[in-house]
Amino acid sequence: MMKTILITGSSGLIGSEVSAFFHQRGFLVQGVDNNQRAIFFGPQGDTRWNQQRLQSSLQNFRHNELDIRDRQGVLDLVQQLEPDVIVHCAAQPSHDRAAVIPFDDFDTNAGGTLNLVEAARRSCPESPFVLMSTNKVYGDAPNTIALNELETRWDYADPAYQHGIPETFSIDQSKHSLFGASKVAADVIVQEYGRYFGMPTCCLRGGCLTGPNHSGVELHGFLSYLVKCNLEGREYKVFGYKGKQVRDNIHSEDVARFIFEFVNAPRTGEVYNLGGGKDNSCSVLEAFELAAAATGKQQVWTYLDDHRIGDHICYYSDLRKMRSHYPAWDITKSLRQTIEEIVESWHRRLVA
Ligand SMILES: NC(=O)c1ccc[n+]([C@@H]2O[C@H](COP(=O)([O-])OP(=O)(O)OC[C@H]3O[C@@H](n4cnc5c(N)ncnc54)[C@H](O)[C@@H]3O)[C@@H](O)[C@H]2O)c1
Repeated sequence: MMKTILITGSSGLIGSEVSAFFHQRGFLVQGVDNNQRAIFFGPQGDTRWNQQRLQSSLQNFRHNELDIRDRQGVLDLVQQLEPDVIVHCAAQPSHDRAAVIPFDDFDTNAGGTLNLVEAARRSCPESPFVLMSTNKVYGDAPNTIALNELETRWDYADPAYQHGIPETFSIDQSKHSLFGASKVAADVIVQEYGRYFGMPTCCLRGGCLTGPNHSGVELHGFLSYLVKCNLEGREYKVFGYKGKQVRDNIHSEDVARFIFEFVNAPRTGEVYNLGGGKDNSCSVLEAFELAAAATGKQQVWTYLDDHRIGDHICYYSDLRKMRSHYPAWDITKSLRQTIEEIVESWHRRLVA
Protein backbone atom coordinates (compact mmCIF):
# COMPACT_ATOMS: atom_id res chain seq x y z
CA MET A 1 0.00 0.00 0.00
CA MET A 2 1.23 3.44 -0.93
CA LYS A 3 1.87 5.72 2.03
CA THR A 4 0.13 9.09 2.11
CA ILE A 5 1.71 12.39 3.06
CA LEU A 6 -0.39 15.49 3.68
CA ILE A 7 1.47 18.71 2.89
CA THR A 8 -0.02 22.13 3.58
CA GLY A 9 1.26 25.12 1.63
CA SER A 10 2.07 22.67 -1.16
CA SER A 11 2.20 25.40 -3.81
CA GLY A 12 4.82 27.35 -1.87
CA LEU A 13 8.58 27.01 -1.82
CA ILE A 14 8.95 24.36 0.87
CA GLY A 15 5.64 22.59 0.37
CA SER A 16 6.32 22.04 -3.34
CA GLU A 17 9.84 20.78 -2.71
CA VAL A 18 8.66 18.37 -0.02
CA SER A 19 5.86 17.22 -2.36
CA ALA A 20 8.31 16.35 -5.14
CA PHE A 21 10.79 14.77 -2.73
CA PHE A 22 8.30 12.39 -1.09
CA HIS A 23 6.57 11.66 -4.40
CA GLN A 24 9.89 10.49 -5.77
CA ARG A 25 10.13 8.13 -2.80
CA GLY A 26 6.81 6.47 -3.54
CA PHE A 27 4.34 8.52 -1.49
CA LEU A 28 0.85 9.58 -2.51
CA VAL A 29 1.02 13.34 -1.97
CA GLN A 30 -2.07 15.21 -0.80
CA GLY A 31 -1.35 18.93 -1.14
CA VAL A 32 -3.36 21.66 0.57
CA ASP A 33 -3.17 25.25 -0.66
CA ASN A 34 -5.56 28.06 -1.56
CA ASN A 35 -3.06 30.48 -3.14
CA GLN A 36 -3.37 32.71 -0.08
CA ARG A 37 0.11 34.03 -0.87
CA ALA A 38 -1.45 36.02 -3.72
CA ILE A 39 -3.87 37.60 -1.20
CA PHE A 40 -1.02 38.37 1.23
CA PHE A 41 1.38 39.81 -1.37
CA GLY A 42 -0.62 40.53 -4.53
CA PRO A 43 -0.08 38.99 -7.98
CA GLN A 44 3.71 38.83 -7.52
CA GLY A 45 3.15 36.29 -4.75
CA ASP A 46 0.84 34.06 -6.81
CA THR A 47 1.73 30.37 -6.45
CA ARG A 48 -0.73 28.84 -8.96
CA TRP A 49 2.13 28.30 -11.45
CA ASN A 50 3.79 26.02 -8.90
CA GLN A 51 0.55 24.16 -8.15
CA GLN A 52 0.09 23.54 -11.88
CA ARG A 53 3.71 22.40 -12.19
CA LEU A 54 3.13 19.78 -9.48
CA GLN A 55 -0.18 18.65 -10.95
CA SER A 56 1.27 18.20 -14.40
CA SER A 57 4.56 16.59 -13.37
CA LEU A 58 3.66 14.37 -10.38
CA GLN A 59 1.31 11.51 -11.17
CA ASN A 60 0.45 10.79 -7.53
CA PHE A 61 -0.06 14.37 -6.44
CA ARG A 62 -3.56 15.56 -5.50
CA HIS A 63 -4.39 19.21 -4.90
CA ASN A 64 -6.93 20.09 -2.18
CA GLU A 65 -8.19 23.65 -2.38
CA LEU A 66 -8.65 24.32 1.34
CA ASP A 67 -8.00 27.19 3.72
CA ILE A 68 -6.28 25.85 6.83
CA ARG A 69 -8.33 28.32 8.91
CA ASP A 70 -11.42 26.26 7.97
CA ARG A 71 -11.44 24.09 11.12
CA GLN A 72 -14.16 21.67 10.03
CA GLY A 73 -12.63 21.38 6.56
CA VAL A 74 -9.25 20.48 8.08
CA LEU A 75 -10.75 17.98 10.55
CA ASP A 76 -12.73 16.31 7.76
CA LEU A 77 -9.80 16.09 5.34
CA VAL A 78 -7.42 14.60 7.89
CA GLN A 79 -10.09 12.14 9.03
CA GLN A 80 -10.75 11.11 5.45
CA LEU A 81 -7.08 10.71 4.47
CA GLU A 82 -5.55 9.43 7.73
CA PRO A 83 -2.15 10.42 6.38
CA ASP A 84 1.03 8.58 7.40
CA VAL A 85 2.90 11.88 7.58
CA ILE A 86 1.87 15.55 7.91
CA VAL A 87 4.19 18.39 6.91
CA HIS A 88 2.73 21.78 7.70
CA CYS A 89 4.21 24.55 5.52
CA ALA A 90 1.24 26.88 4.95
CA ALA A 91 1.69 30.24 6.64
CA GLN A 92 1.55 33.99 6.48
CA PRO A 93 5.35 34.31 6.31
CA SER A 94 6.16 38.04 6.54
CA HIS A 95 6.88 40.29 9.57
CA ASP A 96 5.88 43.51 7.91
CA ARG A 97 2.71 42.09 6.40
CA ALA A 98 1.62 40.70 9.79
CA ALA A 99 1.48 44.21 11.25
CA VAL A 100 -1.09 45.17 8.59
CA ILE A 101 -3.22 42.00 8.85
CA PRO A 102 -2.85 40.80 12.46
CA PHE A 103 -6.05 38.72 12.53
CA ASP A 104 -5.28 36.95 9.26
CA ASP A 105 -1.71 36.38 10.40
CA PHE A 106 -2.64 34.86 13.76
CA ASP A 107 -5.61 32.88 12.45
CA THR A 108 -3.40 31.36 9.74
CA ASN A 109 -0.20 30.75 11.67
CA ALA A 110 -1.47 29.89 15.13
CA GLY A 111 -5.11 28.87 14.51
CA GLY A 112 -4.32 26.95 11.31
CA THR A 113 -1.58 25.02 13.10
CA LEU A 114 -3.87 24.14 15.99
CA ASN A 115 -6.51 22.94 13.51
CA LEU A 116 -4.00 20.62 11.86
CA VAL A 117 -2.25 19.21 14.88
CA GLU A 118 -5.54 18.58 16.70
CA ALA A 119 -6.92 16.94 13.54
CA ALA A 120 -3.80 14.74 13.56
CA ARG A 121 -4.34 13.82 17.22
CA ARG A 122 -7.91 12.75 16.48
CA SER A 123 -7.25 10.79 13.29
CA CYS A 124 -3.57 9.79 13.01
CA PRO A 125 -1.71 10.44 16.29
CA GLU A 126 1.08 8.01 15.37
CA SER A 127 1.96 9.87 12.17
CA PRO A 128 5.02 12.16 12.25
CA PHE A 129 3.95 15.82 12.25
CA VAL A 130 6.45 18.44 11.08
CA LEU A 131 5.85 22.17 11.52
CA MET A 132 7.85 24.69 9.53
CA SER A 133 8.61 27.16 12.28
CA THR A 134 11.05 30.06 12.06
CA ASN A 135 14.10 31.58 13.70
CA LYS A 136 11.87 34.60 14.43
CA VAL A 137 10.69 32.68 17.50
CA TYR A 138 13.89 34.03 19.06
CA GLY A 139 12.65 37.55 18.37
CA ASP A 140 15.43 40.13 18.18
CA ALA A 141 17.30 38.56 21.12
CA PRO A 142 20.16 37.43 18.82
CA ASN A 143 20.86 41.17 18.34
CA THR A 144 22.09 41.35 21.95
CA ILE A 145 25.10 39.13 21.12
CA ALA A 146 28.34 41.13 20.82
CA LEU A 147 29.35 41.53 17.17
CA ASN A 148 32.45 42.21 15.12
CA GLU A 149 32.07 44.49 12.13
CA LEU A 150 33.97 43.00 9.21
CA GLU A 151 34.43 44.56 5.79
CA THR A 152 31.28 43.12 4.24
CA ARG A 153 29.41 41.53 7.16
CA TRP A 154 28.69 41.39 10.85
CA ASP A 155 29.80 38.32 12.77
CA TYR A 156 29.47 37.09 16.35
CA ALA A 157 32.29 38.31 18.57
CA ASP A 158 31.26 35.96 21.38
CA PRO A 159 32.93 32.56 20.90
CA ALA A 160 29.89 30.89 22.52
CA TYR A 161 28.14 31.45 19.18
CA GLN A 162 30.95 30.50 16.83
CA HIS A 163 28.77 27.64 15.51
CA GLY A 164 25.66 29.82 15.39
CA ILE A 165 22.43 30.07 17.39
CA PRO A 166 21.46 26.86 19.23
CA GLU A 167 17.94 25.64 20.04
CA THR A 168 18.49 26.51 23.72
CA PHE A 169 18.48 30.23 22.92
CA SER A 170 15.69 32.12 24.74
CA ILE A 171 12.47 32.74 22.84
CA ASP A 172 11.19 35.00 25.61
CA GLN A 173 11.24 38.75 26.36
CA SER A 174 12.35 40.09 23.02
CA LYS A 175 10.69 41.82 20.09
CA HIS A 176 9.29 39.26 17.64
CA SER A 177 6.96 41.16 15.30
CA LEU A 178 3.39 39.89 15.20
CA PHE A 179 4.51 37.27 12.71
CA GLY A 180 7.16 36.00 15.14
CA ALA A 181 4.56 35.95 17.92
CA SER A 182 2.03 33.93 15.91
CA LYS A 183 4.79 31.50 14.95
CA VAL A 184 5.87 31.17 18.60
CA ALA A 185 2.29 30.17 19.39
CA ALA A 186 2.37 27.55 16.62
CA ASP A 187 5.80 26.29 17.67
CA VAL A 188 4.82 25.89 21.32
CA ILE A 189 1.50 24.23 20.41
CA VAL A 190 3.25 21.65 18.25
CA GLN A 191 5.88 20.99 20.92
CA GLU A 192 3.05 20.52 23.41
CA TYR A 193 1.28 17.92 21.27
CA GLY A 194 4.58 16.06 21.42
CA ARG A 195 5.27 16.50 25.12
CA TYR A 196 1.71 16.31 26.44
CA PHE A 197 0.17 13.76 24.07
CA GLY A 198 3.36 11.90 23.11
CA MET A 199 2.93 12.57 19.39
CA PRO A 200 5.95 12.43 17.05
CA THR A 201 6.15 16.16 16.33
CA CYS A 202 8.97 18.50 15.47
CA CYS A 203 9.36 22.21 14.84
CA LEU A 204 11.93 23.30 12.28
CA ARG A 205 13.02 26.84 13.07
CA GLY A 206 14.06 27.99 9.64
CA GLY A 207 16.68 30.55 8.80
CA CYS A 208 16.43 31.73 5.18
CA LEU A 209 14.87 28.89 3.24
CA THR A 210 15.34 29.37 -0.44
CA GLY A 211 15.44 27.71 -3.82
CA PRO A 212 14.32 27.91 -7.42
CA ASN A 213 10.60 27.55 -6.68
CA HIS A 214 10.15 30.59 -4.48
CA SER A 215 7.75 33.32 -5.57
CA GLY A 216 10.03 35.89 -3.94
CA VAL A 217 8.60 39.32 -3.12
CA GLU A 218 10.09 42.31 -1.34
CA LEU A 219 8.52 41.31 1.97
CA HIS A 220 9.44 37.64 1.85
CA GLY A 221 11.97 35.44 0.07
CA PHE A 222 15.13 37.52 0.27
CA LEU A 223 17.47 35.71 -2.14
CA SER A 224 14.77 34.86 -4.67
CA TYR A 225 13.63 38.50 -4.75
CA LEU A 226 17.19 39.84 -4.85
CA VAL A 227 18.02 37.68 -7.87
CA LYS A 228 14.79 38.67 -9.59
CA CYS A 229 15.66 42.36 -9.10
CA ASN A 230 19.16 41.71 -10.43
CA LEU A 231 17.84 40.09 -13.61
CA GLU A 232 15.24 42.79 -14.19
CA GLY A 233 17.62 45.64 -13.35
CA ARG A 234 15.14 46.69 -10.69
CA GLU A 235 16.31 48.65 -7.65
CA TYR A 236 16.72 46.51 -4.53
CA LYS A 237 16.21 48.31 -1.20
CA VAL A 238 18.62 47.56 1.62
CA PHE A 239 17.09 48.23 5.03
CA GLY A 240 19.77 49.41 7.49
CA TYR A 241 22.69 47.64 9.20
CA LYS A 242 24.97 48.94 6.39
CA GLY A 243 23.88 46.03 4.20
CA LYS A 244 26.10 43.81 6.33
CA GLN A 245 23.24 41.88 7.95
CA VAL A 246 23.88 38.15 7.75
CA ARG A 247 21.44 35.35 6.90
CA ASP A 248 22.07 31.64 6.60
CA ASN A 249 20.52 30.19 3.51
CA ILE A 250 19.40 26.63 2.95
CA HIS A 251 18.19 25.11 -0.29
CA SER A 252 14.63 23.77 -0.04
CA GLU A 253 15.85 20.32 -1.13
CA ASP A 254 18.10 20.10 1.92
CA VAL A 255 15.05 21.03 4.02
CA ALA A 256 13.07 18.19 2.39
CA ARG A 257 15.96 15.78 2.99
CA PHE A 258 15.94 16.59 6.70
CA ILE A 259 12.18 16.10 6.93
CA PHE A 260 12.60 12.71 5.27
CA GLU A 261 15.20 11.69 7.87
CA PHE A 262 12.91 12.81 10.70
CA VAL A 263 9.93 10.93 9.25
CA ASN A 264 11.99 7.73 9.04
CA ALA A 265 13.12 7.99 12.67
CA PRO A 266 10.75 10.41 14.39
CA ARG A 267 11.28 11.79 17.86
CA THR A 268 8.80 13.45 20.20
CA GLY A 269 8.26 17.19 20.69
CA GLU A 270 11.60 18.14 19.11
CA VAL A 271 12.87 21.49 17.88
CA TYR A 272 15.69 22.08 15.40
CA ASN A 273 17.30 25.20 14.02
CA LEU A 274 17.28 24.54 10.31
CA GLY A 275 19.37 26.85 8.18
CA GLY A 276 22.38 26.84 5.94
CA GLY A 277 24.74 27.31 8.88
CA LYS A 278 27.79 29.52 8.80
CA ASP A 279 29.14 28.01 5.56
CA ASN A 280 26.01 29.02 3.65
CA SER A 281 25.64 32.43 5.25
CA CYS A 282 26.05 35.75 3.50
CA SER A 283 25.37 39.42 4.07
CA VAL A 284 23.18 41.40 1.69
CA LEU A 285 26.31 43.03 0.22
CA GLU A 286 27.87 39.61 -0.30
CA ALA A 287 24.63 38.33 -1.87
CA PHE A 288 24.87 41.15 -4.46
CA GLU A 289 28.32 39.90 -5.44
CA LEU A 290 27.19 36.29 -5.63
CA ALA A 291 24.16 37.22 -7.74
CA ALA A 292 26.30 39.35 -10.05
CA ALA A 293 28.73 36.45 -10.49
CA ALA A 294 25.83 34.21 -11.50
CA THR A 295 24.03 36.64 -13.83
CA GLY A 296 26.88 38.81 -15.14
CA LYS A 297 24.86 41.88 -14.10
CA GLN A 298 25.66 44.32 -11.31
CA GLN A 299 22.93 44.74 -8.72
CA VAL A 300 21.07 48.05 -8.75
CA TRP A 301 20.38 48.99 -5.14
CA THR A 302 19.62 51.78 -2.77
CA TYR A 303 20.24 52.14 0.94
CA LEU A 304 17.65 53.12 3.56
CA ASP A 305 18.98 53.99 6.98
CA ASP A 306 16.12 52.35 8.87
CA HIS A 307 16.34 48.66 9.49
CA ARG A 308 13.17 46.57 9.55
CA ILE A 309 11.61 46.33 13.01
CA GLY A 310 12.99 43.34 14.91
CA ASP A 311 15.28 42.36 12.01
CA HIS A 312 18.30 40.23 12.90
CA ILE A 313 21.71 41.87 12.44
CA CYS A 314 23.49 38.55 12.27
CA TYR A 315 21.85 35.16 12.33
CA TYR A 316 23.11 31.75 11.42
CA SER A 317 21.91 28.42 12.75
CA ASP A 318 23.91 26.02 14.84
CA LEU A 319 23.36 22.78 12.93
CA ARG A 320 25.05 20.48 15.42
CA LYS A 321 21.86 19.13 17.00
CA MET A 322 20.42 18.18 13.61
CA ARG A 323 23.64 16.51 12.60
CA SER A 324 23.95 14.59 15.85
CA HIS A 325 20.33 13.31 15.82
CA TYR A 326 20.36 12.54 12.09
CA PRO A 327 23.96 11.84 11.02
CA ALA A 328 22.89 10.82 7.50
CA TRP A 329 21.75 14.41 6.91
CA ASP A 330 23.94 17.33 5.95
CA ILE A 331 23.85 20.38 3.71
CA THR A 332 24.40 19.24 0.11
CA LYS A 333 23.85 22.49 -1.82
CA SER A 334 26.31 25.34 -1.52
CA LEU A 335 25.10 28.92 -1.54
CA ARG A 336 26.70 29.51 -4.93
CA GLN A 337 24.91 26.52 -6.45
CA THR A 338 21.61 27.57 -4.88
CA ILE A 339 21.89 31.06 -6.36
CA GLU A 340 22.67 29.61 -9.78
CA GLU A 341 19.50 27.51 -9.59
CA ILE A 342 17.44 30.55 -8.57
CA VAL A 343 18.86 32.51 -11.52
CA GLU A 344 18.03 29.70 -13.91
CA SER A 345 14.48 29.44 -12.57
CA TRP A 346 13.77 33.17 -12.84
CA HIS A 347 15.15 33.13 -16.39
CA ARG A 348 12.53 30.54 -17.27
CA ARG A 349 9.66 32.16 -15.38
CA LEU A 350 10.30 35.73 -16.50
CA VAL A 351 10.36 34.66 -20.15
CA ALA A 352 7.19 32.52 -19.81
N1 LIG B 1 11.16 30.97 3.17
C1 LIG B 1 11.78 31.30 4.27
O1 LIG B 1 12.81 31.99 4.24
C2 LIG B 1 11.29 30.82 5.61
C3 LIG B 1 12.10 31.04 6.73
C4 LIG B 1 11.69 30.56 7.97
C5 LIG B 1 10.50 29.89 8.07
N2 LIG B 1 9.72 29.68 6.98
C6 LIG B 1 8.43 28.99 7.15
O2 LIG B 1 8.37 27.87 6.27
C7 LIG B 1 7.04 27.70 5.82
C8 LIG B 1 7.01 27.66 4.32
O3 LIG B 1 7.56 28.87 3.82
P1 LIG B 1 7.61 29.16 2.26
O4 LIG B 1 8.77 30.04 2.02
O5 LIG B 1 7.46 27.89 1.50
O6 LIG B 1 6.29 30.03 2.12
P2 LIG B 1 5.42 30.28 0.81
O7 LIG B 1 4.68 31.54 1.05
O8 LIG B 1 6.24 30.13 -0.42
O9 LIG B 1 4.38 29.05 0.86
C9 LIG B 1 3.32 28.99 1.75
C10 LIG B 1 2.10 28.50 0.99
O10 LIG B 1 1.02 28.41 1.94
C11 LIG B 1 -0.16 28.85 1.31
N3 LIG B 1 -1.09 29.32 2.33
C12 LIG B 1 -0.95 30.44 3.09
N4 LIG B 1 -2.01 30.57 3.89
C13 LIG B 1 -2.83 29.52 3.64
C14 LIG B 1 -4.08 29.12 4.16
N5 LIG B 1 -4.72 29.86 5.08
N6 LIG B 1 -4.64 27.98 3.69
C15 LIG B 1 -4.01 27.24 2.75
N7 LIG B 1 -2.81 27.58 2.21
C16 LIG B 1 -2.24 28.72 2.64
C17 LIG B 1 0.29 29.96 0.36
O11 LIG B 1 -0.63 30.17 -0.71
C18 LIG B 1 1.65 29.44 -0.12
O12 LIG B 1 1.54 28.71 -1.35
C19 LIG B 1 6.22 28.82 6.46
O13 LIG B 1 5.66 28.35 7.65
C20 LIG B 1 7.25 29.87 6.79
O14 LIG B 1 6.88 30.69 7.88
C21 LIG B 1 10.08 30.14 5.73
